Amino acid sequence: MASSAAPAPGTEETMVGTMIIADDEQDGDGDSAIGSDNESNTTSLASSVLDYNFENGRRYHKFREGRYVFPNDDREQDREDLKHAMIMELVGGVLHFAPIGDSPQRVLDIGTGTGIWAIDMGEQYQSTEVIGTDLSPIQPKWVPPNVRFIVDDCESDWVYQPNHFDFIHGRHLAVAIRDWPKLLKQSFKHLKPGGHAEFQEILVFPESDDGTLPQQSTLRQYFRYVNEAFEKLSIDLRAPSNLSKMFRDAGFEDVHEKVYKIPLGTWPKNPVLKKVGLFQRTNFLEGLSAISLAPYTRVLGWSTEALEVWLTEVRKAILDEKTHSFDYMFFVYGRKPVEAAGG
Ligand SMILES: C[S@@+](CC[C@H](N)C(=O)[O-])C[C@H]1O[C@@H](n2cnc3c(N)ncnc32)[C@H](O)[C@@H]1O
Repeated sequence: MASSAAPAPGTEETMVGTMIIADDEQDGDGDSAIGSDNESNTTSLASSVLDYNFENGRRYHKFREGRYVFPNDDREQDREDLKHAMIMELVGGVLHFAPIGDSPQRVLDIGTGTGIWAIDMGEQYQSTEVIGTDLSPIQPKWVPPNVRFIVDDCESDWVYQPNHFDFIHGRHLAVAIRDWPKLLKQSFKHLKPGGHAEFQEILVFPESDDGTLPQQSTLRQYFRYVNEAFEKLSIDLRAPSNLSKMFRDAGFEDVHEKVYKIPLGTWPKNPVLKKVGLFQRTNFLEGLSAISLAPYTRVLGWSTEALEVWLTEVRKAILDEKTHSFDYMFFVYGRKPVEAAGG
């Protein structure tokens, strides 16, 4: 039933290649990541997991329908891979900051998306078992043998064994997670004592150091509307700036927070930031309709026509090089105390 990779979605092969946790796989033998004491949230997925919803010409996940409001089609996957390249540029190619040693046994990447981070981890740590989970079975078929993917909702109770993983990682999930304290608690429970968790999250509200982004600017207004939509979805877009406290509240120790600026546009003088700013501008322009459609139309009730008119303004603002705006990105990691046990 399980294999190391998820083939192209929508094909017969996907059913075979994507691991769908079924009752008979929850017998909790020592080798499995899956525990025996938990009702699977992924049981009986076969029908819905391969299905998609289509809205305004974009494709969305069907399993746990509506949970994640951005598309999962090829165009959006390309954008996710572009964001990965941008972050690698920003941080000098490191996949994580947590001190996980040279040979962690088991790594979990939640909300893995195209699986690009998980695949890079699998290549870097070849003796490590890397599992990526997501609502969408959109991961590539050909991946390193130590990497596999599971369709799962990370906000449901986890079926993995307690005290199991050496490292749990998530990135760009601020637009998805409704209950961060629960997610961190579950991460804590399923980490081995001494294991690490790390979340890498962008605070989407743009800032500027030189007064070129006034309060009434189009960019700020764009994100005020986005925030209004996410508040209705019970998603706190400001969570990234609060993550380190939430780590400590969940019981983690030795919590570190690294904050980077992601510029929008090529205005920075620093060559690395100039390149990152170019990536970010491309990402934002390319993704503008994807990230706006559902929040503005499905959640806030705008017409697609009104949205298009507004996005024309927003595109102009994104391209305005006189505005020196940036986002903060938070890399937060912490350790489960050696004396702590999960469960
Ligand atoms: C912005 S993408 C980030 C992908 C990946 N972490 C990366 O950095 O390349 C967010 C991903 O989280 C997934 N996601 C959202 N809510 C989720 C949930 N409750 N459980 C599992 N995955 C979820 C989405 O399907 C999407 O693939």
